[in-house]
Amino acid sequence: LFPFFRGGVRSSPMMKPKMSKVSYKRFQLLRVRPRNDDEVEDIGNLEGETGVQFWTPLLKNKTVDIVIPPELTLNIKEFFKDRGIHFTVLSTDLEKTIAKQNPKLLSTSQKSELKVDKGHSFTWNRYHRYNDFLVYLEHLANTYPQIVELMPIGKSSEGRILKVVKISSGSNTDAEKLIKPAIWIDGGMHAREWISPAVAMFIIKQLVERYETFKPVVDKVDWYILPMVNPDGYEYTHTSDRLWRKSRSQHDDNSLRSRIFWSAFRSSCEGVDLNRNWDFHWGETGASDNPCHETYAGPKAFSEPETRAVADFILDHKERIQAYLTLHAYSQMWLIPWSYTKTKVEDYEDLMFMGRKAIEACKKVNGVHYDIGSSTSLLYATAGSSDDWAKGRAGIKYSYTVELRDKGSHGFLLPASQILPTGREIFAAVRAIARSLAQT
Ligand code: ARG
Ligand code: ZN
Repeated sequence: LFPFFRGGVRSSPMMKPKMSKVSYKRFQLLRVRPRNDDEVEDIGNLEGETGVQFWTPLLKNKTVDIVIPPELTLNIKEFFKDRGIHFTVLSTDLEKTIAKQNPKLLSTSQKSELKVDKGHSFTWNRYHRYNDFLVYLEHLANTYPQIVELMPIGKSSEGRILKVVKISSGSNTDAEKLIKPAIWIDGGMHAREWISPAVAMFIIKQLVERYETFKPVVDKVDWYILPMVNPDGYEYTHTSDRLWRKSRSQHDDNSLRSRIFWSAFRSSCEGVDLNRNWDFHWGETGASDNPCHETYAGPKAFSEPETRAVADFILDHKERIQAYLTLHAYSQMWLIPWSYTKTKVEDYEDLMFMGRKAIEACKKVNGVHYDIGSSTSLLYATAGSSDDWAKGRAGIKYSYTVELRDKGSHGFLLPASQILPTGREIFAAVRAIARSLAQT
């Protein structure tokens, strides 16, 4: 999901020296519902206030989730009451909510016990560090070499390896292989959306470890899955700021003008919004040219090693990739291009038809409903996003952005206990797409 783009300056709470951890102690999460344009404007005026973060777009008659720093909570609530603006409090202490989200990481001895037991220490009841991801993938590649191949496609700004997991059974003839459809899935483009890489890993696990059960979708379709597009940002959310969104690159123009101007919020000026950095109508709308903003599109299209690596890989395989899926959070939506314009894609009905199959299969698992529609109709325009690029440049017909759970009760801080149910419903959805591609 995106922050409200008129605002979104990351004036991090409690500016602390580098490497220490940002605290959200007594920060509150409010849910507000503007009923008219005046209320939208009143609420919009909060943007830019130090410590205020919009988690969802500010739209009339829709709820918007806003983080408020402790020193402003009284004032802001009074202000809302004065104006008759309706709000509810979702959290009175974000730091506590953060602590509850992820059960304690495993101790070294627990880890080694798991390792002896299973060959890796990856689990589905907590959000793991990036290194655990890599160890688990390595384990899968070693244990199931017939169907798993790890393909390094590049490195992040801070030098972390990006590994695509290719899942494919060799049960086809060479001729069949050439025409076999492939599906691309990526996760973790936005650092704080922890459920996304976890679900990508769950899909990998099911396809590989339960191959016998899901044999048809592996035999008939090849899968390219990159569970973590933005490992630098992800690690940063573990070590320094749980609510970080962008990558962690440093750009020149962010050291001078912006840094001086935004010196008060200096620590938010690193990184690029990787979902605004793609070379398709880059920078046109719904993105910022201010490095200190949450939706900074980067100094130019594909300035980031992460987006470039993914794009190069997809272009290399675009003949066979028929579906592009990118996992984000939150709001439970199955989004269809275009995002840069309100114009409908020419094959809108096909994308809706396929998307409906996906959300129906999804709903059957736990009864959880995902809305479907174009990004511009359900949200608003954002240019330079990966789904538009995949469709517009790479020519991949079925391109979707999936906003995972939930609808905001926990937002980015979705408890780890929801990894499995979310994983299961989304796995059902992508299987529905795979089955459908396999038939045509
Ligand atoms: N939440 C995502 C973001 O902020 C997607 C918003 C809709 N845009 C899109 N291209 N699907 O980047
Ligand atoms: Zn996102």
